[in-house]
Amino acid sequence: MTKHKPIRKAVFPVAGLGTRFLPATKAIPKEMLPIVDRPLIQYAVDEAREAGIEQMIFVTGRGKTSIVEHFDIAYELEHTMSERGKDLSVLDSSRFTPGDVLTVRQQVPMGLGHAIWCARAIVGDEPFAIFLPDELMVAHTTDSGAGTGCMKQMVEAYEQTGGNLISVLEVPQDEVSSYGVIDPGAEDGALTEVKGLVEKPPVAEAPSNKIISGRYILQPEVMRVLEDQGKGAGGEIQLTDAMARMIGTQPFHAVTFDGRRYDCGSKTGFVEATMALALEREDMGADVRTIMQQLLGQGIQS
Ligand code: G1P
Repeated sequence: MTKHKPIRKAVFPVAGLGTRFLPATKAIPKEMLPIVDRPLIQYAVDEAREAGIEQMIFVTGRGKTSIVEHFDIAYELEHTMSERGKDLSVLDSSRFTPGDVLTVRQQVPMGLGHAIWCARAIVGDEPFAIFLPDELMVAHTTDSGAGTGCMKQMVEAYEQTGGNLISVLEVPQDEVSSYGVIDPGAEDGALTEVKGLVEKPPVAEAPSNKIISGRYILQPEVMRVLEDQGKGAGGEIQLTDAMARMIGTQPFHAVTFDGRRYDCGSKTGFVEATMALALEREDMGADVRTIMQQLLGQGIQS
């Protein structure tokens, strides 16, 4: 038994317009673009389930309905497939207990902090997780199968520390301005104390090269802090700024994920994730490897 309240709810901010992937995302949410055969959002939801999280809260916007459809039962499809004797287990991970998928709308894009605040009534008075689905976190494979996912590693750390946790990773110093950056305190293995947080600092002012990589466990008090949070970097209401104000009032730690991260918010990161995950697949990895070698051998280059 843990002495801290368990993490049962996760918030997925998915209202973004996905302009970097246009025209692909004109009529399809960015989160529904597939990496091999699973939409991006499914990887984050699977990671949440592995960590013991039961309720998935999507902060959506106009044109995002297919995300919710994806986690519903597809009667016609399932009926037709079972009549034809097809294996339905491919759909298992996209099925949910009724009531465990919830949505709330963010009517106007005002920043990540605002998106999270939109979920305050559903989150209620419990600690909760946040997943930014653009960040694809892949556990190391071990001899006995898949290793521990990012959120599960964070939940395990939370059981020791309580309070607030964010996942971090190190990036080259000249990239820090695209992220939230931590001011690190004492380190203990994968755990680092967080003394300060700053969103998208100029390189010269960044307190470290440890950036927030899209996974959070936060106490519900953050919703009160967000309530009167002014605009920050980029003129948006920043979650990082609200978290920074909580440091000192509650424990705050960072967990360095033992695994790989792909930035699927960028096109090259998306292609990298696609290639890496395809290469690892038992059913197609060998074929994909041959194809890649052939392509490189043909001298296809920019
Ligand atoms: C958001 C957060 C930032 C974090 C990043 C991770 O920024 O505000 O702190 O480091 O996600 O992807 P965005 O990418 O939405 O600008």
